[in-house]
Amino acid sequence: MNYRVFSKTGEKISLLGFGCMRLPVLGGVHEKIDEAESVKMIRYAIDNGVNYVDTAYMYHGGNSEIVLGKALKDGYREKVLLADKFPIVFAKTAEDVPRIFDEQLKRLDVDCIDMYLMHNIHEGSWNTVKNLDLMAFFNEKQAQGLIKHKGFSYHGGTFDLFKEVIDAFPWDFCQIQLNYMDVKVQAGVEGLKYAVSKGVPVVIMEPLKGGKLTDVLPESIRKYWDGVEIKRTPAERALRWVANFPEVLTMLSGMSTFEQTEENIRVLSDADANMLSENELSVIAKVADEYNKLSPYSCTACRYCMPCPVGLDIPGLIEMRNEATIFECPEKISFAIQSFIRPLPSTCEACKACEEKCPQHLPIADIMAESAEMFE
Ligand SMILES: NC(=O)c1ccc[n+]([C@@H]2O[C@H](COP(=O)([O-])OP(=O)(O)OC[C@H]3O[C@@H](n4cnc5c(N)ncnc54)[C@H](OP(=O)(O)O)[C@@H]3O)[C@@H](O)[C@H]2O)c1
Repeated sequence: MNYRVFSKTGEKISLLGFGCMRLPVLGGVHEKIDEAESVKMIRYAIDNGVNYVDTAYMYHGGNSEIVLGKALKDGYREKVLLADKFPIVFAKTAEDVPRIFDEQLKRLDVDCIDMYLMHNIHEGSWNTVKNLDLMAFFNEKQAQGLIKHKGFSYHGGTFDLFKEVIDAFPWDFCQIQLNYMDVKVQAGVEGLKYAVSKGVPVVIMEPLKGGKLTDVLPESIRKYWDGVEIKRTPAERALRWVANFPEVLTMLSGMSTFEQTEENIRVLSDADANMLSENELSVIAKVADEYNKLSPYSCTACRYCMPCPVGLDIPGLIEMRNEATIFECPEKISFAIQSFIRPLPSTCEACKACEEKCPQHLPIADIMAESAEMFE
């Protein structure tokens, strides 16, 4: 396993972290984690050098924290940095905050969380962070030794908001989505470089775009990969693309099978910064372009359509609608929308204020209706 140095402490962190959002489940039910298999996979990863594990309050309906806690028994807790996240979306009043935190410690059955993040900062939740003075709570828990490092995960629509968040507090680290399709999405590569320039180490999530870069390979994409001399699986190419950035501290992959765990450990025991050739990098960029050409709606995420009077994240929802077609994965998008997105596309009142402002002249109200039909 390759390691990178966590500048806050000098500790070495494995380039692969285990994301516990997509553990194997029983009977296709997301809440019913296959506990035995998950514990086996997590411990195998730790035995093979992984020392960063990541969960959150809502993953697998709350069961991810419980199963990860079990995996970390028998001496495994001491071998890892444990990351967990405060669910901003569930904090309606100041009283909710300590109650949820205590529940998380109980579920994990630990007395300290090493890496504690404000989960999913975006345009809406950022106000809650400020209104509830969440940072004061994080500072208090850090002073009590109940958390070691304060961070946040980011899914806001723009680099500008990311910059504002980075500049607002003395964060110990942050977590952003990054893969070769998302170079300019959310924080993007610009965000990675900005955070590091401000002394904030960056953990990457969704290096395989939640598995979409590996699931279905359209013929046009396969043609590009076949043309590259060095043969690799699509997962390996995507992981290597992230590893190529020296600024990345670690990348989390949500491994769902034992074979995926084995492969990702193998890849990130070899891949490291600045290892990809110009040729491979240019083919990856062409693959990203080719995927983008499959988009049914040519949204550029300029955000002229925003704000939406009913609070919809219009560019984010159009991106998800596009991904359902590009990656032929309507079920995955449906699950993501129902689990994490509020308000839902069906909230659209078809006022069409957005359509008047859209430089691409997209039929946004129709796209929201179509998305409600497809995903809800
Ligand atoms: N806001 C946040 O804080 C936030 C948001 C998202 C994620 N996260 C964290 O970041 C972690 C990583 O994100 P992610 O789970 O989206 O990671 P990811 O690596 O982009 O996607 C994981 C999925 O990719 C597929 N996969 C993984 N390894 C593979 C391989 N070797 N070959 C083929 N397919 C492979 C699997 O999907 P299939 O088996 O379905 O193909 C797996 O479920 C999460 O688990 C979670 O801990 C945090």
